[in-house]
Amino acid sequence: MGAQDFDRRLFDELIPLPDGTSYNAYLVTGSEKTVLIDTVDPDKIDVLMAQLESVPQLDFLIVQHVEQDHSGSVPEVLDRHPNATLITTPKARPMVVDHLHVDPDRIVTVEDGETLSLGDRTLEFIHAPWVHWPETMFTYLKEEEILFTCDFLGSHLATTELYGRERKRVYEAAKRYYAEIMMPFSSIIKGHLERLTRYEIEIIAPSHGPLYDDPAFILDAYRHWVLDPPENLVVLPYVSMHGSTQVMVDHLISALANRGVQTEPFNMTVTDIGKLAITLVDAATVVFGAPTMLVGPHPSVVYAAYLTNALRPKLRYAAVIGSYGWAGKAPEQVMGLLKTLKVEWFDPVMVKGLPDETTLEALDRLADEIANRHRDLKK
Ligand code: FEO
Repeated sequence: MGAQDFDRRLFDELIPLPDGTSYNAYLVTGSEKTVLIDTVDPDKIDVLMAQLESVPQLDFLIVQHVEQDHSGSVPEVLDRHPNATLITTPKARPMVVDHLHVDPDRIVTVEDGETLSLGDRTLEFIHAPWVHWPETMFTYLKEEEILFTCDFLGSHLATTELYGRERKRVYEAAKRYYAEIMMPFSSIIKGHLERLTRYEIEIIAPSHGPLYDDPAFILDAYRHWVLDPPENLVVLPYVSMHGSTQVMVDHLISALANRGVQTEPFNMTVTDIGKLAITLVDAATVVFGAPTMLVGPHPSVVYAAYLTNALRPKLRYAAVIGSYGWAGKAPEQVMGLLKTLKVEWFDPVMVKGLPDETTLEALDRLADEIANRHRDLKK
């Protein structure tokens, strides 16, 4: 069940959705009980309610995650099915009440590993906090070996395909989703991936995007993103107000290429922040190209730095380069925005006005240092 949202272009009023998204809900019918797992965004409530017309009775409504794109239609589903009990985690219970104003008497909580018999089918609840809120859980349908994962392993991708057959497109959308939503919790996700190795899984059914009937496709991708060392790649978010920082950026990109290091530059005035996030999944080094505006870094670079810090990628090295007019404090302020990252900072390269030969030589030395460090990435 659920709804495709082909036209949605922004999530959380922040995240670009170039491929739209979907809100997946799942009806599980046992010989004795019927369950709905998750609902849809309130914008698509009419779609879900029309689908439920053919369901005479819901016994349970499972809320795996309280964020409103999955739970926003819960009150209406409960109104339509007054005998249905809402099942969720103990952590989610007060959140369901706070965010949705559900009557607490209709909520039953389940412990990690607890099971629910539907007659000839059995659901197991697996607490999986922080994918990406504290209250999240998965649901495992034992007889069919289907794992419902809420946001985890999902993708913002609207498609009429039940399973994602366009591998490249699904991989890109799932990686974008991981980068934007899951990467800040990679250390916790590592534990969830380990725990899932104990389950036989035929189908993974996330709450966004297509399902996977070859679970290794998405599980291996997550293992790579979470566990493997970063790659020989520099991500370079920057802005240039009058061309001086652009000269530095162009020179550094060439200098790095000459040393065998790939760079992905992102001009923050035109960039899709999702592409920036995707690149942060793999990059070993970030260099901020930060011209000084008044007495601090340009606000668009501040945004990039703040975002980088929030997403917590596995970066190992960082630097700031840029041009200023009369005050050169941009590097300290950018560095102050990346406190959660455990990166080694290279000396900044800043120039008053237009870069000269001395500046370009300093950028060459920065490229030398980056290339040297990157040679050891696999060790
Ligand atoms: Fe798809 Fe965290 O909601």
